[in-house]
Amino acid sequence: MTSNHHQSVMFTESIDVLNIKIGGIYIDATFGRGGHTQGILDRLDKSGSVIAFDQDIHAVEFAKENFNDERLTVIHSAFTHMEEILSERNLSGKIDGILMDLGVSSPQLDNADRGFSFNTDGPLDMRMDQTSGISAAQWLENADAVEIANVIYEFGEEKKSRHIASAIKRYQQDKAITTTLQLANIIAGVVRTKKNKHPATRSFQAIRIFINQELKQLAETLDQSINLLAPEGRLSIISFHSIEDRIVKQFIQKHSKQKQLPKGLPVMNIELEQTLFKNLGKQFASKDEVKNNKRSRSAILRVAQRTALKAEEC
Ligand SMILES: C[S@@+](CC[C@H](N)C(=O)[O-])C[C@H]1O[C@@H](n2cnc3c(N)ncnc32)[C@H](O)[C@@H]1O
Repeated sequence: MTSNHHQSVMFTESIDVLNIKIGGIYIDATFGRGGHTQGILDRLDKSGSVIAFDQDIHAVEFAKENFNDERLTVIHSAFTHMEEILSERNLSGKIDGILMDLGVSSPQLDNADRGFSFNTDGPLDMRMDQTSGISAAQWLENADAVEIANVIYEFGEEKKSRHIASAIKRYQQDKAITTTLQLANIIAGVVRTKKNKHPATRSFQAIRIFINQELKQLAETLDQSINLLAPEGRLSIISFHSIEDRIVKQFIQKHSKQKQLPKGLPVMNIELEQTLFKNLGKQFASKDEVKNNKRSRSAILRVAQRTALKAEEC
């Protein structure tokens, strides 16, 4: 069964921390089914606006059919093109807040045809943007065991990565892997996990991250936010696993650390470099939310505020 419903995670918290200015310009980098976008629109007056991105054409079509608001622009693109697209619109340095609710949406997970699910059978695709790139099935067909093991280890932190990769290559000597259940069953033959965790959880996560280049895109887009945000503009980022969160955390830490002056140097002649971000910390979903929406269990919201312009921009 497919549904169009997505329950927005940490809805109020992630929008509260944007500190919305009623006439501001906001980016929802991950439109999904527009829950967060609507939440932002509700706090803006007529002069405010939201520019939303999603690389999934179905999300953009959903927006066209269900959102009729002049203040909203929805763009079918990976968020990694954000800087290019917004600078063409003369919006560099003018964005008051960027929200990112990372990963896949419930409609993507629940629709077996998208190939994200290890519980229901479907074509092994896993692309968020089905208009470009290669499917997980195509990649598994062409990659060698070492490459597969590295991806599963690096992006899934799966200890049995090498056994899984060997099992995949052995299976492919007889038959191509084209469906999600074929892959899930091969993995289940190698990995043992606790009762309520499917053995393929980590591997599916890893392959999905790789196919969609999720970590690379996240890191690139965080870098772009430096040029896009207005002074005091905010980042509100929800991630769902430790590898993703580490990238957000390290980005914020890197840019919010005051440079240490070498000991003994006279302070007089050294220009103090201003930090680019103020780290406003992290939050988790409330107990109530976790009870009602399992997906929020692993959510980590990190917040930062752009401070000043970079030295070369001044
Ligand atoms: C967790 S859902 C967002 C749900 C949304 N906040 C809501 O309330 O309905 C993530 C969405 O972001 C999209 N997405 C993930 N990575 C993306 C990227 N690099 N560029 C653009 N969209 C992306 C996915 O296609 C998916 O629709």
